Amino acid sequence: MSMTVRRLTRAATAGLVAAAALTAAAHSAEAADTLGSAAAGQGRYFGTAVAANHLGEADYAATLDREFGSVTPENEMKWDATEPSRGTFTFGSADRIVDHAQSQGMDVRGHTLVWHSQLPSWVSSLGASDLRTAMNDHINGLMGHYKGEIHSWDVVNEAFQDGGSGARRSSPFQDKLGNGFIEEAFRTARAADPAAKLCYNDYNTDGVNAKSNAVYDMVEDFKSRGVPIDCVGFQSHFNSNSPVPSDYRQNLQRFADLGVDVQITELDIEGSGSAQAADYTKVVEACLAVSRCTGMTVWGVTDKYSWRSGGTPLLFDGNYQEKPAYDAVLSALGGSGDPGDPGDPGDPGDGTLSCTATYTRTADWSSGYNGQVTITAGDEPISSWTATVTLPAQQSVSSLWNGTPTRSGNVMTVRPSWNGTLAAGASTSFGFTVAKNGSDAAPAVGTCTAS
Ligand code: XIL
Repeated sequence: MSMTVRRLTRAATAGLVAAAALTAAAHSAEAADTLGSAAAGQGRYFGTAVAANHLGEADYAATLDREFGSVTPENEMKWDATEPSRGTFTFGSADRIVDHAQSQGMDVRGHTLVWHSQLPSWVSSLGASDLRTAMNDHINGLMGHYKGEIHSWDVVNEAFQDGGSGARRSSPFQDKLGNGFIEEAFRTARAADPAAKLCYNDYNTDGVNAKSNAVYDMVEDFKSRGVPIDCVGFQSHFNSNSPVPSDYRQNLQRFADLGVDVQITELDIEGSGSAQAADYTKVVEACLAVSRCTGMTVWGVTDKYSWRSGGTPLLFDGNYQEKPAYDAVLSALGGSGDPGDPGDPGDPGDGTLSCTATYTRTADWSSGYNGQVTITAGDEPISSWTATVTLPAQQSVSSLWNGTPTRSGNVMTVRPSWNGTLAAGASTSFGFTVAKNGSDAAPAVGTCTAS
């Protein structure tokens, strides 16, 4: 019942969507200095993964709306989120993202219909014939609800095993339905929304290797037999163990040569500074060198909400400031924005004050330790800062220097004593002595705020 109503509502807003898209196009003609508009100038989209629960955060929404032309719900369209029990579809969070995107003239990537992970246990426990029906019902339920509103769907995600074998991954679908489940999912998907591009998506398939060879063989087979497939997604989660492959472009190109589009679907690269920027440049240049690489999506807006936040893998830092990687991507996209210009959003001179706080233990003895928090101003000068330090319950602070603390339970809020004024990028620190009282755990340092 609620699904039927929502379906009608979504279809009825289609006129509005078209109008919003026109506004966005007009915008990009004026200023090619954002990721989305620069990529559009190259005939590509530039998107990001989005989480519905952050849309209410002003800086998150502002950065998203300003920079990106496409969104992928990070978790909200997965099976556990959309069909938690059989036949009961829940679209609330995904609808919020789609509505937001449409109000901003952004496209939406659908992620993902058939995947072994984030799969409710009711699905895994079905027998083969029920599972086949449930899989097709799920595809029809989601694609029907969003019919005409999704530019590309990840129909099947991560169906091949990692490592050297090129075999299929064991999953309820693979184990009970056999190799044919992927083909069946794509056929069902084509009928459900003929306008959507249908993608196979996977990771560690970014270079030429046994796993990407196996996907390649499948796509070649699908094309030769007329199984509907339009696109292959390359997740592109990179770090020092899994760096950007040197044959990335060649790999994208060989898939494109099979007659499918290729998309970079979940890009993130752990690291920082110029090394991270150089890796991002490689990825963007590879996509631009392949005419059928139709777009790129980074896996999140800001480092602070990344699924790999410890690796700071994205283009905006935790304070929504543009990182060197941002400038590198914008310039690789041929953006006419002048990275580093006063007044550019996120660049020095845009009036956004920020700071970071990092903790180190500077001395340690059996009953206590000294801690130090270093405060570093962002790319603007600041005149004051505030940082919080939360101590493990047993511990207590006996003295603190170069800062002014106020205490509430085990949380200390520390403000400057003499050292509030910092030039852009400059640092100061405060220190404190802690009585362990039996706990050797480290305190937690919260977000730094600047004024
Ligand atoms: C990740 C999300 O980013 C996390 O928030 C979630 O906890 C787990 O899934 N491959 C995919 C994505 O296809 O759906 C995954 O997203 C990351 C790896």
